[in-house]
Amino acid sequence: MTKNKNNKGIWNNRIKKNVSSLFQKVGNSIDIDKKLYKEDIKGSIVHVEMLFRQKIISFKIKNKIIYGLNKIEKEILKNKFIYNIKYEDIHMNIEKRLFQIIGEEAGYVHTARSRNDQVITDFKMWITSATKEINKNLDKIIKTILTISEKNIETIMPGFTHLKNAQAISFAHYLMAYIEMFNRDKKRFSNNLESLSENPLGVAALTGTSFNIDRNFTTKKLGFKRPTNNSLDTVADRDFVLDFLYSVSVCSMHISRISEELIIWNSDGFNLINLSDKIVTGSSIMPQKKNPDLLEFLRGKTGSTYGNLFSMLTILKGLPISYFKDLQDDKEIVFKSNETLNNCITILNEVLKNLSPNKKKMLDLANSGYITATDLADYLVKNHSMPFRKAYQITTAVVNYAEKKKKKLNELSIDELKKIEPKLSVEVLKVFDLKNSVNSKKSYGGTSFDNIKKMIIKYKKA
Ligand code: ARG
Repeated sequence: MTKNKNNKGIWNNRIKKNVSSLFQKVGNSIDIDKKLYKEDIKGSIVHVEMLFRQKIISFKIKNKIIYGLNKIEKEILKNKFIYNIKYEDIHMNIEKRLFQIIGEEAGYVHTARSRNDQVITDFKMWITSATKEINKNLDKIIKTILTISEKNIETIMPGFTHLKNAQAISFAHYLMAYIEMFNRDKKRFSNNLESLSENPLGVAALTGTSFNIDRNFTTKKLGFKRPTNNSLDTVADRDFVLDFLYSVSVCSMHISRISEELIIWNSDGFNLINLSDKIVTGSSIMPQKKNPDLLEFLRGKTGSTYGNLFSMLTILKGLPISYFKDLQDDKEIVFKSNETLNNCITILNEVLKNLSPNKKKMLDLANSGYITATDLADYLVKNHSMPFRKAYQITTAVVNYAEKKKKKLNELSIDELKKIEPKLSVEVLKVFDLKNSVNSKKSYGGTSFDNIKKMIIKYKKA
């Protein structure tokens, strides 16, 4: 690296004393925001191209700056770039290095720009890519769920409300509920792209600039849709950060819900699913144990993504317009949430691939708890033309009788049933069959096998 001729801090002619080592230590963010180097360099290249087009800098200076910036990018990629906490953040580290490479003309790069607009331009571009990456990752989970669902259309299990047996469902229908959630997550992330598409570059520190810049040019070149409208709001705005963190939180919450559910189903009490040895851990004292640690990890991590959302909300709560140092924390928070979520998505995908339903146990459990009681009530309404409330009361009598006799509903004889409701004929017995029960739920969105098959085709097309 050439000898550093410009090693003073940018403001050291105004602020005579070097910043205290304590402040240097806490005030710098280079270890965190160096992640933004690519966006920062791209933003600077487009910025100087615009400055040249607007006749604010010369052709020669523009080229020199672009040459230097490209060189810096290569250095960073080759791990040859030396980051210095003295220059606080990625923006000033790059600018300082530019001086070393091309000399004093590097000073033109910051014309009509402030770090305040620079940092959010970089950050919006970064979050845009991260958002698209998350959605790609979610697609992988959706694909995995579809594969398992296809194999389990006819796997019958109890559906629960209040964790009590409610009505019979297909295991595929259960799994596909999570496809809906992950699809909503994708939509939520995609919706954020709209506000991310407003270009902050050019609002400078807070007022805009007296230079004749062309914000439409940088907007187009950097892949934004339009420039932001108000310079003050632009530098103070971190709503796009909140949108991202909220979307991450909701997605984490879905991951946490399925994790909790699978933990319960994997418990010895339920025993509805098996987890392969690849995804369980043992105990240091209890030799028999196979614990669903990974699922617990996923459930636990939701705590930190919620925490990150609340950190950012709290940072913003009392902030007047416009930029304050408080805002610098936004990047660490977002980077952490992003990493956590991507890890969780990958892990959940792996867990799903290593999970199998305990079909016998599912069916046995579905056969207990008078799960077809609602089917009997519906049957009475449809076949013996009575109001639902009356059918409900007759069914209650049947359930009470079965409970007294310690029988399941499908173990009752037609004679026993007739004693409660004389109108009943032997045909009624079919409502106690679980397969019939599941298949009768043909209303759109219901759990019948046909519905599920159609829905799988629909998801595959999407
Ligand atoms: N590293 C700073 C941040 O991320 C860049 C903006 C600095 N602006 C300022 N006025 N100190 O927030």
